[in-house]
Amino acid sequence: MASKIIGLGMYAPPKELTNSDLEKMVDTNDAWITERTGIRTRHIAEPGSPNSDLCVEAARKALDDAGVDPAEIDIVVVGTLTPDMPFPSTACFLQAKIGATRAYGMDLSAACSGFVYSLSVADALIRAGRGKKALVVGSEILSTVVDYTDRSTCILFGDGAGAVVLSECPEGEGVLSCHLHSDGDLWKLIYCPGGGTLHPYSPEMLEQRLGFIRMAGNETFKHAVLRMVEASREALDRNGVTIDDVKLFIPHQANLRIIQVVGKRLGIPDERVFVDLEKYGNTSAASIPIALAEAKAQGRFAAGDLVLVVAFGGGLTWASALMRM
Ligand code: COA
Repeated sequence: MASKIIGLGMYAPPKELTNSDLEKMVDTNDAWITERTGIRTRHIAEPGSPNSDLCVEAARKALDDAGVDPAEIDIVVVGTLTPDMPFPSTACFLQAKIGATRAYGMDLSAACSGFVYSLSVADALIRAGRGKKALVVGSEILSTVVDYTDRSTCILFGDGAGAVVLSECPEGEGVLSCHLHSDGDLWKLIYCPGGGTLHPYSPEMLEQRLGFIRMAGNETFKHAVLRMVEASREALDRNGVTIDDVKLFIPHQANLRIIQVVGKRLGIPDERVFVDLEKYGNTSAASIPIALAEAKAQGRFAAGDLVLVVAFGGGLTWASALMRM
């Protein structure tokens, strides 16, 4: 057996942080942000709200879309780098909040590749007979780890959640293949040093601002382009199809210029490349499932169409998946 997506949902908190809001916080301006990133606004969760609350909103929509009761779910996987707590997992909070009583749950840490990694794990578990239905969520409250005094990073990131319901299906439908990669030698390109065992919470850690994202923007940009092109080609080659067969290409929403270069190198016309980052910024693990839900709502793919997703993030990690919807 294989697995296929039977429901999609997304949620973005109502509060927005626009480029003009950021102009008042750091030395930047709307023209620079729009030109260099394509981002115009992002959504920000209320301080103190747990990530699992965002997961619940997206998950309920995906379950409704699928017509599946939470009690039918066997597996809950949450891709995130901003969990409610170090433990228990955000997946366990989500399970309890929606009443997915018979499921087992876990979080998965692969930064911005977190959703595609989670999709791959849930797909593999279903293929291995460890469950028939999975809830796979990518959800982040990045505003808790963004340094709003650093103009090179604070303009990029936003909060949000996206969810899919995966269900067992015959081989040849649904998730056709997933391709996961990482290169830990390059961890210093984008990371958050504090809050783990290396730099546990302490007055010094807070004083040195170690709890915030650090990033080498230019280097990260180059790797993102190379790796997303590679992983996309890998998925196409594995399935004996070409980019012309793909109805919709959904790359990780990090920077419009990255998306445009990747699309150009793959030879896919702009109208078949999905972009929504002007509204959400980079929501890390939530980026792809939010885009999938938006693409479905906009009628950008139909049943039977091929959709290619590809992600890239800290680790470094990168991953692709080709799906027949
Ligand atoms: N507003 C105004 N100026 C800014 C700025 C901001 N928010 N951020 C940086 N600048 C300045 C820099 O200080 C630099 O000034 P200088 O030339 O006087 O030194 C200039 O703009 C160019 O900086 P640079 O870093 O070369 O810009 P860039 O075109 O590479 O854009 C990023 C910066 C971060 C937008 C871009 O590198 C990027 O998106 N990288 C990938 C990041 C990413 O995707 N991360 C997540 C991966 S999952």
